Amino acid sequence: MQKAIDIKENTDKFEELLRYIESQDKSQGILMQTLHKAQEIFGYLPIEVQKFISEKTKIPMAEIYGVATFYTQFSLEPKGQYTVGVCMGTACYVKSAQLVLDRLQQELKIKVGETTEDNVFSIQATRCLGCCGLAPVMMIGEDVYGKVDPKDIPNILKNYR
Ligand code: FES
Repeated sequence: MQKAIDIKENTDKFEELLRYIESQDKSQGILMQTLHKAQEIFGYLPIEVQKFISEKTKIPMAEIYGVATFYTQFSLEPKGQYTVGVCMGTACYVKSAQLVLDRLQQELKIKVGETTEDNVFSIQATRCLGCCGLAPVMMIGEDVYGKVDPKDIPNILKNYR
């Protein structure tokens, strides 16, 4: 579920976004860079921010929502302090990466793309992380964990809380 953003508490951020929109050449397509800028400012793209962009750029809300949900670089949810990425590339997949992902979701009580209530962890399913010899691979922030056994996940997570 999307977390709402308090517009009053974030006036500065909306003003910064508005200045950015006004500085753009509207004759060019500005949606992608505006969404990037908005994500940089807010950390994610809540529905209120999408509505604001729609209002100020006159780009239909459906188009904005479509782009924001299509590209994986955009997030509709605030990210946790640590993103836990589970590689679902071929080598990891055949080494049971799905079981790693299942255990992680069960441990953190969230699904892929979501963030824990305490804002510590978000889960992502990723493409090949380039260390297939270590399959199945999981990353927490910048730390890489290879040959992950699902039953080790609770202990690994403890290091970050
Ligand atoms: S497939 Fe997972 S690291 Fe390459």
